[in-house]
Amino acid sequence: MKLQSVELRVADVAKTSEFFQKVWNLTPVDGGAKLRGTAGLPYIIGLEQGTPSIRSITFCGTAAEIGSEREHKGPDGETYRFVVEKRSAELPANRDRPIQLSHVVLNSKDADAAERFATNTLGFKISDRTRFMNFVRCNRTHHCIAYARAEVSSLHHIAFEMNDIDGVMRGIGRMRDAGFPPVWGPGRHGPGNNVFGYFIGPHGGVIEYTAEVEQVGDDYPVGTPDKWKWPQGRTDHWGVSARDDKRIHAAERAYQWA
Ligand SMILES: [Fe+2]
Repeated sequence: MKLQSVELRVADVAKTSEFFQKVWNLTPVDGGAKLRGTAGLPYIIGLEQGTPSIRSITFCGTAAEIGSEREHKGPDGETYRFVVEKRSAELPANRDRPIQLSHVVLNSKDADAAERFATNTLGFKISDRTRFMNFVRCNRTHHCIAYARAEVSSLHHIAFEMNDIDGVMRGIGRMRDAGFPPVWGPGRHGPGNNVFGYFIGPHGGVIEYTAEVEQVGDDYPVGTPDKWKWPQGRTDHWGVSARDDKRIHAAERAYQWA
């Protein structure tokens, strides 16, 4: 199965949708209340009007992979939906357009409990544990969700998969031109080894362009906090960019579970 979509409530659907279309380079569906990438999934972001909050995370797959369509409520009050995949035609490949979602990171009041729920109830596999996050996967991609240790239960960020590092870098330039310079990045992560650029969108949440996330097999050795330590002053492999910790911290708490 795979990560399909995230469903959000936002203060201004029209403005948020316009941003996701014109700057973030998604394609509108249903008059813009849903947005899709170039992969053959019906949509990857769903928007409804209201107090900013996260409604659900949706996974899709074949009937054999999913079984019966269902919802699960996790220990942080989070909602996971599992639906049978409805393929739609792919859009032409374009390095400037997101393909699909790569992963979602959630702030969790008990990341170890959230991880146990994901592995025991949802059937996911643990990939890595660091001091800050537990990374789980639902297919060969290193992580579809990570649970960050926090004092709140909230949406930490949503990551969109670009074709390659060039797509991420060009996306950083496009966002900078539109008045949204990166709050972290470009860089390359430890766990998952993916290239990243992080931004705070006009909706107030953190979004990421990413590429080159590691593909793993059942023989992947589960990493421990000791394996994923950076030298003093470093937070990624490259060390070429600083993090705007204060703004990121607030934006990672703007979307709590509805
Ligand atoms: Fe990420």
